[in-house]
Amino acid sequence: MDQLRQKTIVSSWNEWDPLKHVIVGTADGACIPAPEPALDAKVPEDSDMRGQFGPRPKEMVDKANELLDQFASQLEGRGIRVDRPTPMEFNQKTSTPDWQAETMFGCMPPRDVLLTVGKEILEATMSYRCRWFEYLCYRPLLQKYYDEDSEMRHEAAPKPRLTDHDYRQDYLSDKIGVQKRLEWTANKFFVTTEEEVLFDAADVLRFGKDLVVQHGFTTNLKGIDWLARHFPGHRVHTVNFPGDPYPIHIDATFTPIKPGLIMNNPQRRLPEEQREMFNKNGWEIIDSAQPAHNSPPPLCYSSVWLSMNVLVLDTKTVCVEKSEVYQAEQLDKLGMEVVEVDLRDAYAFGGGLHCCTADVYREGTCEDYFPIQ
Ligand code: ALA
Repeated sequence: MDQLRQKTIVSSWNEWDPLKHVIVGTADGACIPAPEPALDAKVPEDSDMRGQFGPRPKEMVDKANELLDQFASQLEGRGIRVDRPTPMEFNQKTSTPDWQAETMFGCMPPRDVLLTVGKEILEATMSYRCRWFEYLCYRPLLQKYYDEDSEMRHEAAPKPRLTDHDYRQDYLSDKIGVQKRLEWTANKFFVTTEEEVLFDAADVLRFGKDLVVQHGFTTNLKGIDWLARHFPGHRVHTVNFPGDPYPIHIDATFTPIKPGLIMNNPQRRLPEEQREMFNKNGWEIIDSAQPAHNSPPPLCYSSVWLSMNVLVLDTKTVCVEKSEVYQAEQLDKLGMEVVEVDLRDAYAFGGGLHCCTADVYREGTCEDYFPIQ
């Protein structure tokens, strides 16, 4: 196929320019990880996953893979080159001199691990022990891109030690209650401490010259400061979303659709004082539509707000999960062509359409969308 002969270009500056090359994750071998401090803080107290770990059921893996393969084919049908990671044996113990973990996680959501900024793909530190080695699943692709695009920059953030000092003991109880969690998260009292640099790539949104980063369970202020020092040509902004009792990863909370338009989760609104940059530059922040479901699928870490975890293919086209009819209707009314993608049965493996992808190449250049700061 022609697309397979395309020259490899690594470059992506934002979430909406025309997508030409992407990584789509796979569910092979995915595990429910064993308890560990950061993970326990995130798994909802009433989750069916509490107290169990190990390989996910084979029928669920097969179904998720069928959907991920179908999504990859849909993208290829639109002329987008798709690559897949190389899964590892995730059902194995891993350790460093500082800790041991009973299992790993999987490689369904590349967005969590890989941050593409211009010609650079950066491996995040990650903040769960079970995900410390996940970057290895992407190394075959990154090495290939490095060989094929002489301008590509392959970077890895400093690997964290992830000792117990990285996690607040207050979060170790499974009886905190949602009310207390909401208070704590509104006060920016998160499970991760400021012991060392921590970030997951999925806490970062790219707006050309500006990077918007969620401070929460998986990214601390030191992580955001590291990103600012690492990308000196960018402006890095810290955001918080009170209302989220489990604040990890920004992409079911704040979703840019095109220059000037962002959807925000109505239960997790960006505080007024953090809206200045958007308001001053004429950007509109609208409430996203309600999810179509009252609860996430079985064995899923994420909330029902994966409804807004859409993948923008260009400023006129957006992939929306097929059952998320209200989200599709809203984007249709906003003038977007909506591409329906069946993915709900893969949510449990690490998220929705944005999570299960990572940009390699979008057309376009680094623009300044917020000249008035
Ligand atoms: N933070 C995301 C959610 O709402 C993943 O589930």
